[in-house]
Order: sequence, then structure tokens, then C-alpha cells
Amino acid sequence: MNHIRVETSLRFEQNPNPTPATEREALLQNPGFGRVFTDYMVTIRYAEGRGWHDAKIAARGPFQHDPACVVLHYAQEIFEGLKAYRLPDGGATLFRPEANARRFVNSATRLAMAPLPEELFLESVRELVRVERDWIPSADGASLYLRPFMFATEVGLGVRPSSEYLYCVTASPVGAYFKGGASAVTIWVSETYTRAAPGGTGDAKCGGNYAASLAAQAEAIREGCEQVVFLDAVERRWVEELGGMNVFFVFDDGSLQTPPLGGTILPGVTRDSLITLARDLGLTVREEPYAIDQWRADAASGRLTEAFACGTAAVVSPIGQVKGREHSFTIGDGGAGPVASRLKAALLDIQNGRAPDKRGWLD
Ligand code: COI
Repeated sequence: MNHIRVETSLRFEQNPNPTPATEREALLQNPGFGRVFTDYMVTIRYAEGRGWHDAKIAARGPFQHDPACVVLHYAQEIFEGLKAYRLPDGGATLFRPEANARRFVNSATRLAMAPLPEELFLESVRELVRVERDWIPSADGASLYLRPFMFATEVGLGVRPSSEYLYCVTASPVGAYFKGGASAVTIWVSETYTRAAPGGTGDAKCGGNYAASLAAQAEAIREGCEQVVFLDAVERRWVEELGGMNVFFVFDDGSLQTPPLGGTILPGVTRDSLITLARDLGLTVREEPYAIDQWRADAASGRLTEAFACGTAAVVSPIGQVKGREHSFTIGDGGAGPVASRLKAALLDIQNGRAPDKRGWLD
């Protein structure tokens, strides 16, 4: 397979029916999450022997694929999530897109897909943001969410890696991920389901992981919770991650802890950025396993003062309550805690150009 041949750079095709400016401005007022989409998308094709080709930015629209194309049967699909932010001078910036480009390659490798060259990933997201810059909301906490994804398009029912792929990037102006905005969420400890097993695809960003989380997430909703939290698949003891977010714990000595990456946890860009920012603020951060029973005991004793979820979509979302068949407890006073609020502000200040970008995270 020739993975790295790139025949063409992005070609621009005018959308004949772009959204009128007044309509766009109205949509940007309250976009919610993942409901509003911009006028253009990037597509790049891959074929074994030919490499990456036919790269373009054109009107966003539906795809047409054969009912026997590989992704529809064997779920050979990966995706990414990253955001473009409005800067104080009216310009725009991406946050650590090279981290997403690298993870996209890692996910592709795990799913036996052709890895998209990182430079092509970066060019695709930068160009889409340039074309769609008027869709970046300027309200506090709002941004343009980019969704790069790639799926297997070869036609055939044999179980084997596809020889053809379609890579695409769409863009969606977004506000808060949770309906309640910045208020604390209640999470459900899944005892029925696990998300990822050792040797599985837990650290790849593939649609299959999210599909596998949906029954557990539906259980969480039935139990009156916003999100599910998964335990490890071997001992059903260690806290791993939420349906689509990493998790952090804050203790009364001011230290933080987050489950270590070990193949079953998604290596979140926000997770990594928060570890760095917390250490910059002088806080101790441990990447160590944390048991569900310990979580309950520490919440009861007051040793645990905060817990929060984090991700590109969710940013930093405090966890107020934890429920499960054998677990029901409140963390602190059940509201947003000061450490989560401080880290969230530090992150958003960099992303929105209000604080110095000491580490060169803005692109
Ligand atoms: C993100 O945080 O970007 C995610 O991909 C999580 C979720 C929306 C699937």
C-alpha cells in the first residue's frame, strides 16, 4: 500500500447557495451543540496504488455510497474533534491541531486504515477555517467545532481492510455541550457495560467505541443522569472515562489525579492540556488509577473536593453527583468547584487569545 502519496492539494469549488449573512448571524446566536453546520466541507479520497487524491473544499452535502461499502458493515471509521476560536482582534485560531493530526494517524493505524499525512490533515482544517471564518461565533464559550472523519468506502463484504477511504471535515458552530451549560452534571456508574478492554480500540477515536457506549449512556439517562462513567473491563474497579470525556479528581491537599493512559483510555488533547496547565499553576497532578470505592469513600470523608469531566466538546464540566446501583454520592457541595473553574478559565483564556500562549498551542 502506498500511504503517503499525495497527488493534489485542496481545490476550491464555490458553493452556489451559501447561507445568507442574516440567517447565519441568527444561527450563531444560539447554536447548541452539533446542530448547525457551515456551507463547506473538505473531502479527500484515498485509493490503494493511487494514494490521496481529489482533495477539495466544496458545498457541504450528502454522500452517495453503495450498500455494500465496508464502513456500513464492519465500522472501519475514525474521527477527530477540534475547535477554532475567535481572537480579540477578530482573527481566528485553532488549538493544538497537530495533536489531533497525530492522534488521527494513530487511530487509523489501529483500525488498519490508510493514515492521512499529518500535513494534509493540518492543511484541511486550516483551509476550512479560513473559508468559514464568518461562522466562528464570538460569544464567550462558543467556537467553531471541526469534525474530521474518515471511513472505508470499498464495496465488498469480505472482512478485510478497505482499499479505499473518504476523508472529510465538516464544521459546526457550537456553544456548551451540556444543556445545563456550566452547571455540574450527574453521572451514572455503569456496572452492566464496559467501554474498552485491554488490546481493544479504547485509545483510538473510532465511531465503534461511541456506538458501544450508547446503551450505557441510555441507561444513564433513564436513571436521571447526564453521562455514564465506565469502569475497567478486567476488575470492574478502576474508573476509566465517561462516554466521550476524560475525568479528573481534585483532593483537599490541592492535588489532582486522572486515570493513566494505558490503551483503554482516549488520550484527550484537553486532558493533556489541563495536566500541563495545572502543573504550570504549581499543582501536583498524578496519572494513577482511582478505584470507584475510593471515589465514594473520599467523597464521604471530604478528601475529594471536586471531580470534573473534560474534552474538546465538553471543555471542563464539573461532576456534582455520582449514581449507580451500589453507589450514590455527592462531591463537595454538588456544584462547580474552584479548581475546575480556574483550570477552565486558564484554558479558555489561552484559546481565546486573552492570555499569553506560552507553549505555542495556538495555530
Ligand atoms: C470531543 O470532545 O470532541 C468528542 O469527540 C467527544 C464527543 C462529542 C464525541
